[in-house]
Amino acid sequence: MNQNFEKKLQADLDAFRRDGVYKVFNHLDSPQAARVKMEGRGEVIILSSNNYLGLCDEPSVVDAGKQALDRFGAGTASVRFICGTFSIHRDLEKKLAAFVETEAALSYVSCWNANTGLMPTLLGEEDMLISDELNHASIIDGARLTKTNRKVYRHSDMKHLEEILKDASDSRRCMIITDGVFSMEGDIARLADIVDLARKHDAIVVVDDSHATGVMGKTGRGTPEHCGVLGEVDVITSTLGKALGGAAGGFTASSEALCDYLMQRSRPQLFSNALPPTVTASSLAALEYLDTHPERVTRLHENARYFRRQLIESGFKPVDGETPISPVILGETALAIKFSHMLLEAGVFVTGFGYPVVPQGQARVRCQVSAAHERDDLDQAIEAFKKVGRKLNLLS
Ligand SMILES: Cc1ncc(COP(=O)(O)O)c(C=O)c1O
Repeated sequence: MNQNFEKKLQADLDAFRRDGVYKVFNHLDSPQAARVKMEGRGEVIILSSNNYLGLCDEPSVVDAGKQALDRFGAGTASVRFICGTFSIHRDLEKKLAAFVETEAALSYVSCWNANTGLMPTLLGEEDMLISDELNHASIIDGARLTKTNRKVYRHSDMKHLEEILKDASDSRRCMIITDGVFSMEGDIARLADIVDLARKHDAIVVVDDSHATGVMGKTGRGTPEHCGVLGEVDVITSTLGKALGGAAGGFTASSEALCDYLMQRSRPQLFSNALPPTVTASSLAALEYLDTHPERVTRLHENARYFRRQLIESGFKPVDGETPISPVILGETALAIKFSHMLLEAGVFVTGFGYPVVPQGQARVRCQVSAAHERDDLDQAIEAFKKVGRKLNLLS
């Protein structure tokens, strides 16, 4: 390694440490569940996981992966169009499309790839891409890969969105893209209004439902179900790495023609291996499990409401919302990290988020509740929050 290059990297790393923003990784030694085994610490309650439905260690989901390993081997050894399309990909994609009520779906190795493979493929110089200011990093990076005109509207501000749409009336194609549930705030996109505006101004709507698939709506079909516009959103992108078993992978769901076009032209499809069969099979099993166990979604929301109420009664002020994400804003990054370290000492694993993941001065801990949590887990976590909150003088 070039010594000068490395010295400069080391100086930056030292600065992260000095500023209290250096991230330390904790190693888990058990499946994601309400409680996990952490190396060097033992059992801790986890409140930071995207394992919303508790399907990471669900036996049918795990077994499906094992069986696929035996049947299809370790991997695809190819991109889809060369020789990497397996029958299990078709099965999963059919199931995904039926689940979110679109004509078709196409799997990717991540939702990051689904997003970055979507915008540059569909939009060119004569088009317009309109994005919510709090959209996920994968949308921002996907937008940067396009050669299209881009505008950002103030978070969930429909007036601002409409002003931009009016200005964009000369564009050949116009796309509005939004997170379904905003990952750092836990709030929900105003999807019914966005769909109305898109119709009025001849635009299409893309929703990244990564924090909503399996989570929002009575049967977990996501923000379109929650907002009463199921089947009316033009394109849905989402992850398989959160509620649906938590392995990895993502997908784009839309019309036959749009998915076919992506299959032909989307660069992550053309130049990167297909989703591994094990992950594909586990995701399919997660969807099948959800079909027969909608009560997991109900339980997730009961837990989320309970935990939020307990946080408020304890003197914290989580950001308002009705999703399983309850962020507690603490201000400076160093404080969020300290709070999270002290919680871990008390047996609760909640990650602190600071700049650049969230804006300066809005560092937070983001609590994520799961259907896997028992009341005991949540009560014990709240006791730890109170203890640490008192010590740091954070309670009102
Ligand atoms: C809104 C959103 N989109 C995309 C992603 C990326 O998903 P994946 O892990 O499948 O790449 C995430 C993950 O954090 C997310 O929250």
